[in-house]
Parts: sequence; C-alpha cells; structure tokens
Amino acid sequence: MDDLYRDYILEHYRHPHNFGVIEAPDLRWEGANPLCGDRITMMLAVRDGRIADVAFTGRGCAISQASASLLTDELRGKTLDEAARLTSDDVLDLLGIEISPARLKCALLSLDTLEHALAEGETASSTSPTGEG
Ligand code: FES
Repeated sequence: MDDLYRDYILEHYRHPHNFGVIEAPDLRWEGANPLCGDRITMMLAVRDGRIADVAFTGRGCAISQASASLLTDELRGKTLDEAARLTSDDVLDLLGIEISPARLKCALLSLDTLEHALAEGETASSTSPTGEG
C-alpha cells in the first residue's frame, strides 16, 4: 500500500504538473526551506479575481516538488479567496501519504510559498521596497 502511494509521489516528482514559467505573472514568490535550501518559485496569472494560470519551478526533495505539482493542479480556476483558504490539511490530503514531522516542512513548502505569493507577491507595475528575489 505504501509503495503505491510512494509511486504516486515519485510520478509527480519526476513529471511535475505545471512546471515552468509564466512571463509577467501577477503574483510571484520564491519560497525556500531554510533547513535544506530547497526552493519553489510560484507564479500566478490572475484574471477577474481568479487564478487563470499557475506555474512553478523549483528543486528539492520528492515530497516538496510533488506537493507543488499537486497543489498547483488545485489552484487553476480558484478565486484568490479560495486559494487563500487552503490549509495544511488540504495539502496533506493531496499528498495522500503519512508525513512524518521531520518532512512536514517539505510537504508544506508549496503552501507556504503560495501564501506568501498571495499576501505579498505582487509583481505588477508597483515596485517592491524589499526587492525580494
Ligand atoms: Fe528540502 Fe524536503 S528535504 S524540502
């Protein structure tokens, strides 16, 4: 049973969905797990308050990249409010395997990156005082 779930995660890791770049995204954030340096950059194109397109790039462990693949699949078509209401439990449900406490940061890096993108990731014409990225 575990092997089945592991295959599912590995499949998303090897062939991630929505992996790529959106040129001139409306929202963008580069998230990192400080413990290992793994990264996910999430880009969102927003039309009329809805996520019209989503893409990510990144590198890291199978769990972090598979969770980004699964989470981005969920995002397309959602309103920004709906996206902001996604919880850790939602992401763990998407992964569908038991995540040990040590791997929780891996599993939730994509959600953390999304939350930052929604809250502070605006890239459109306004200039960012932090110059993040
Ligand atoms: Fe780095 Fe999993 S080991 S995010």
